[in-house]
Amino acid sequence: MKDFTRRRFGQTVAAAAALAGSSIPGFAFGQTGAAGSEADHDSGRKFPDGFLWGCATAAYQIEGGAKEGGRGPSVWDVFSHTPGKTHNGDTGDVADDSYHLYKEDVRLLKNLGVQTYRMSISWPRIFPEGKGQPNPAGLDYYNRVVDELLANNIAPFVTLFHWDLPAALPGGWQSRSTSLAFSDYAAYIARQLSDRVKHFMTTNEIACFTDLAYRDGSFAPGLKLPLKDVYQIRHHGILAHGLGVQAIRANAKGPVQVGLAENAQVFVPVMETEEHIRAAQRATRVMNAPFLTALMEGKYIDEYLHSIGSDEPRVEAGDFAAIASPLDFVGDNVYICNYVSAAGTPTGFEIEPWPSSYPRMYSRWITISPECAYWAIRNVCDLWHPKAMFITENGTPSADVLTADGRVADLDRVMYLRNHIANVHRAAVEGYPIKGYFLWSLMDNFEWDDGYSTRCGIHYVDYKTLKRYPKLSAEWYRELIKRNEVV
Ligand code: BGC
Repeated sequence: MKDFTRRRFGQTVAAAAALAGSSIPGFAFGQTGAAGSEADHDSGRKFPDGFLWGCATAAYQIEGGAKEGGRGPSVWDVFSHTPGKTHNGDTGDVADDSYHLYKEDVRLLKNLGVQTYRMSISWPRIFPEGKGQPNPAGLDYYNRVVDELLANNIAPFVTLFHWDLPAALPGGWQSRSTSLAFSDYAAYIARQLSDRVKHFMTTNEIACFTDLAYRDGSFAPGLKLPLKDVYQIRHHGILAHGLGVQAIRANAKGPVQVGLAENAQVFVPVMETEEHIRAAQRATRVMNAPFLTALMEGKYIDEYLHSIGSDEPRVEAGDFAAIASPLDFVGDNVYICNYVSAAGTPTGFEIEPWPSSYPRMYSRWITISPECAYWAIRNVCDLWHPKAMFITENGTPSADVLTADGRVADLDRVMYLRNHIANVHRAAVEGYPIKGYFLWSLMDNFEWDDGYSTRCGIHYVDYKTLKRYPKLSAEWYRELIKRNEVV
């Protein structure tokens, strides 16, 4: 997903933002404005009652406290401390220091008015060795975070694995035993937290912690293995998810909702006619074959098996029964798409190349295609009819400039979000079971191999002081949540 052209762009955006800062009206966070009767007016862009709004983060990207409270090292600690692996040698050692500042972060959420917060648990904080003896101090931290959220009426949506694999696990995802260790970890968390946490996601973006980490080498542990090994690693990834679902259900203290956060490749028909819509659906099924398609259909489809030939992974009896465990919801992280056309090829679709002039955000990989939010939902629902869906991430970097009076006018982020959310709205009013939306991200954070050079938050973080500042997008999101409609 992330191997879109690496060309950097947008140098002029910073200058434009600086100019804009002097002319736009102030947006003191917390002002309510004259919403009053406007809020009652039906603009036709209202979301269904009960639609859940949230923000998302991930443990390694925000927590810091890397060596505190008995936490063991993750592959991302090792990778980011290896020279040349991340931008500027940045690491998650301190990040946003949410390990200490979590109460302040809950306050940010409270000010936004979100009903939910998608957070992840650091596996090596709970099991410093990846398995064996749990670390009570690690669990205490999450008990405190969960309790603080609940005290503020914010429902935690917990991801169990957002890429910070315990470094101590031999072979990482190359080893099937890592999938089993994940299952034990999931069982433990379900036993400990399910009295208060009612929504769990097993894994985040399986393609990223398999392909980017073991094929491309751009993510931890940074290996470039032969494809045969990569196919096996992918299998361990989906197996971990499936075993995790079973473990959560078997160990939860009461009813819980279980899903995952995938980044299924999204295909948008070049035009909304029957043949191209069918092509987009076919592309969704075939291009996600090793991941979401395998989960939804309980098998590797013929197109995938044919493409990998004799490199087929070893699948043990019972694997697919676990992998296809029924889900309460499918979460999808949506940033980009590809456009497809119907074609007379064996697959019946053709992925269109990007014209060099196609507009992009301030990112090496994010093109501007807001309709991807609608098609991400529609393709998955039309193909597999999940009970419910969530957009578990959507957001963008922006060339944020903090002015002397503490403001960030991130107009391009607001534009991006507004247009994506309008497309989520379209899916909701058409009756697709989309139940909520999580904005990536609550605040700027450690952006993996990009380190701190990329800011995706709706709160600006000054990494010297760790002070958080609401951006214009935070004010905008707050208004949207208050009215439950696109603003
Ligand atoms: C990941 C996040 C990441 C975001 C923006 C998603 O793929 O889940 O961890 O920060 O993209 O790059």
